[in-house]
Amino acid sequence: MKEILEELRISSREAISQADGIDALEALRVRYLGKKGELTAILKQMGRLSAEERPIIGQLANQIRAELEAELDARRDQLREQALEAKLQEETLDVTMPGAPVMLGRRHPLSRTLDEIKEIFIGMGFSIVEGPEIELSSYNFDKLNTQEGHPARDRQDTFYFNDDDTLLLRTQTSPVQIHTMETTPLPIRVISPGRVYRKDEVDATHSPMFHQVEGLVVDRGITMGDLKGTLNTVLRQLYGPGTVTRFRPHHFPFTEPSCEVDIQCFECGGKGCRVCKGEGWIEVLGAGMVHPRVLEGCGIDTQVYSGFAFGMGLERLAMRRFGISDLRLVFENDVRFLEQF
Ligand code: PHE
Repeated sequence: MKEILEELRISSREAISQADGIDALEALRVRYLGKKGELTAILKQMGRLSAEERPIIGQLANQIRAELEAELDARRDQLREQALEAKLQEETLDVTMPGAPVMLGRRHPLSRTLDEIKEIFIGMGFSIVEGPEIELSSYNFDKLNTQEGHPARDRQDTFYFNDDDTLLLRTQTSPVQIHTMETTPLPIRVISPGRVYRKDEVDATHSPMFHQVEGLVVDRGITMGDLKGTLNTVLRQLYGPGTVTRFRPHHFPFTEPSCEVDIQCFECGGKGCRVCKGEGWIEVLGAGMVHPRVLEGCGIDTQVYSGFAFGMGLERLAMRRFGISDLRLVFENDVRFLEQF
């Protein structure tokens, strides 16, 4: 039995030293030391030995067990170290290699223009508010004094969601005036930028979706003078301190009196050129004193309060600012175009 044990000692040592992975090593542990392992099998036969032999063989067997365990542990540590070494080798990082270029985006010309507008109005004490793009007809039209039968409500021009024309994509940001007056305590001084929708064919100057910036001021004693002063200040910040403005009478259902505001052409100084299409003037926004019917519809006492409102198109302003000649470029989001700004 002693010889068998000695043989096992040698063959197992050999096997352990050649194990090439943690799994193989574990299999060897089971093979020699497991419940049905080789060493265990030998120990089971100890009963057959004489009383003198038993303690000697028992001692030897225990010694071999201890050796085997130590060798298995040592080999396992060695294999782990080798694996780590190989992994480190494989993952070596050459910090002197040039990095992969990171493509950084930039603000869209529309966002840049809007940020500038917000800055100006915040500086004048206005707050920014937003309203829903899916709107009730009553907010987009009725409460803005635009009754049934008004041409602006035509199905040809407006995206309706249902047959009774009560739900639509807002055609203007003016419904936010109503939401604001219905929910905000007076006085009110807000601008509201956002998307608006009209059934227009896409071309160089039209898009079924574009952006407006609405403005609304309601307080005691607000006059047309406040409207002119405010808009002149804003337009001079947007187009430069020397900007000449012109307030032309116009009509909007929800303001009375109403006006359109032009700036003298910054390109030709009013002589007439390609930019102003020979007019000398460029229309920049619509405005007016909020119609008393609109104020009253929102529960505002027109004996005490009055207000003015205005609306401007964001795209046209951005296109002028960045010299963009075709509206489609603004929405196509071609990076080759956007990278220029
Ligand atoms: N909502 C108007 C439009 O879309 C613009 C406007 C806003 C006019 C506020 C007057 C007052 O044309």
